[in-house]
Amino acid sequence: MKIMVFGARVDEIPYLRQWAKTHAIALTIRPELLNAETVALAAGYDGLNCLQTTPYSAQLFAKMGQLGIKYLTIRNVGTDNIDFAAAARAGVKIANTPAYSPNAIAEFAVTLTLNLLRQLGAVAAALRAGDYPKATTFIGRELAQQTVGVIGAGRIGRAAIKLFAGFGARVLIYDPHPTPAPDLPGTYVSLPELFQQSDVIDLHVPGIAANTHLIDAQALAQMKSDALVINTARGNLIDTQALLTALKTGHLGGAGIDTFENESAALLALERDGYFHDPLWDDLAALDNVLLAPHIAYYTQTAVHNMVFYSLQYLVDFLTNGHTDTEVSAH
Ligand code: NAD
Ligand code: COI
Repeated sequence: MKIMVFGARVDEIPYLRQWAKTHAIALTIRPELLNAETVALAAGYDGLNCLQTTPYSAQLFAKMGQLGIKYLTIRNVGTDNIDFAAAARAGVKIANTPAYSPNAIAEFAVTLTLNLLRQLGAVAAALRAGDYPKATTFIGRELAQQTVGVIGAGRIGRAAIKLFAGFGARVLIYDPHPTPAPDLPGTYVSLPELFQQSDVIDLHVPGIAANTHLIDAQALAQMKSDALVINTARGNLIDTQALLTALKTGHLGGAGIDTFENESAALLALERDGYFHDPLWDDLAALDNVLLAPHIAYYTQTAVHNMVFYSLQYLVDFLTNGHTDTEVSAH
């Protein structure tokens, strides 16, 4: 079986080599992202494995079809960047890696929350300005005294609910299709109730089109004026311009953003110009009550190991049996 791995980062290579050795299956490892041009590298291969947030386009799948490559497994959860209809037309089957480490992302959401509650951005800014006395004036809020509203009680949301409850927070949950989990330490409420009652609003829903701007000006207007919004899910969930306006006008307490609305375009700018640039990103970065992260909530040793090992097993399943448990065919 001939497997080509695309989008391999330096930190993944030891795990890819370890997997190849353990399974006695050769891997061809490429740093290039997978697109309609780079797929030509895979002529003669049986299956592809990739990690990227840039699009898996209709043109890419048409080329895969022409090359007779039937299987693609991705080393991550989100499938919002995949043109499933085009994949089906080309006869390409796809599997994601849904549970490489939900805890990694949940812990990062908690990390952003604790940092914002203690106003560490303002403390760091005062210290950078050489104003030690001012840096001692930013009084914090304790997580145990907060109400945390978790939107999306899937794998990551459930992990986050348990962590927040472990800190003593009261947890509210909104999910229209909850997976039964009887011992989940939180209360299901309606979305308006969650917006109105929460001190922290934490997002863990997929970035499918239906969820675009779930957090818009109307949603923000329902929140407490000192509420925090945490997004480690997908950038399109928040109307960032509306978020910025709420932050600047004192209608929101802060935001922790690991997944940024214009991430894809800014990453293309990075490739083209050598630096990540976007006006909304720059405006957010200038605020002391905003924490920005470059889509690294997942990024732990456990997660990277599992992303490689699980996704390659799904590809072997495809190549051996024609199916795998994590096959996905629609958003
Ligand atoms: P999941 O499929 O297990 O759970 C998603 C949950 O969201 C489901 O229970 C679903 O019913 C619910 N949902 C969908 N739309 C909703 C809405 N409008 N309101 C409330 N609930 C809604 O997915 P998961 O493993 O928990 O992952 C969630 C998302 O996290 C992924 O889709 C991905 O975009 C993102 N993610 C980000 C990182 C990162 O590094 N930042 C890493 C992994 C995953
Ligand atoms: C995911 O697993 O969906 C992520 O967001 C992680 C990222 C490396 C694509």
